[in-house]
Amino acid sequence: MQEDKTDPNGIVSLNPVFSKINGSKALSSESQRYPLTQPKLSDPTAMANNVQNLGLNQIQRHIFLCADQTKPKCCSKQASLESWNYLKRRLKELKLDQKTSSCSSLIFRTKANCLRVCADGPIMVIYPDGVWYRQAKPLVIERIIQEHLIGNKVVEEYAITIHPLPVTFYSVTKDCWDNARN
Ligand code: FES
Repeated sequence: MQEDKTDPNGIVSLNPVFSKINGSKALSSESQRYPLTQPKLSDPTAMANNVQNLGLNQIQRHIFLCADQTKPKCCSKQASLESWNYLKRRLKELKLDQKTSSCSSLIFRTKANCLRVCADGPIMVIYPDGVWYRQAKPLVIERIIQEHLIGNKVVEEYAITIHPLPVTFYSVTKDCWDNARN
């Protein structure tokens, strides 16, 4: 793992994670076959502050909601924005989007232009759980917050499918590359 620790840009946070998951020997050989490009940061201090202030290393769940679409298909743009604003407001009110003295994990939310399901929206997906929801309107979002995010129970009436992501995308990506080459 020497090559990762001596990175001239000082960006070392990703590779130790891979190392923990895959073991340093595997990483070393994979790094040579699939090198990670690490261009210089324009402002490392500002980036470190962003990571810290956003709590990127404390994220427990990441929610993507189809909203403010360029081409609204799953619902109207107005309906999607109502859902987005509701989600943002409620996460903030419940302090689920920030670290607190009693809880150091947080929930991140991102507005997606289109999640490609394009029907029965707004469409929402929650990772790492991999639960995809339809009709994510404010009342449904409230249930998802209370039952899923807080209660850890999927709101089955609105779930389209459940597919948690693999623990490590790195090994999956490698397998895909290997299969594609064979
Ligand atoms: S427009 Fe919402 S999923 Fe495609």
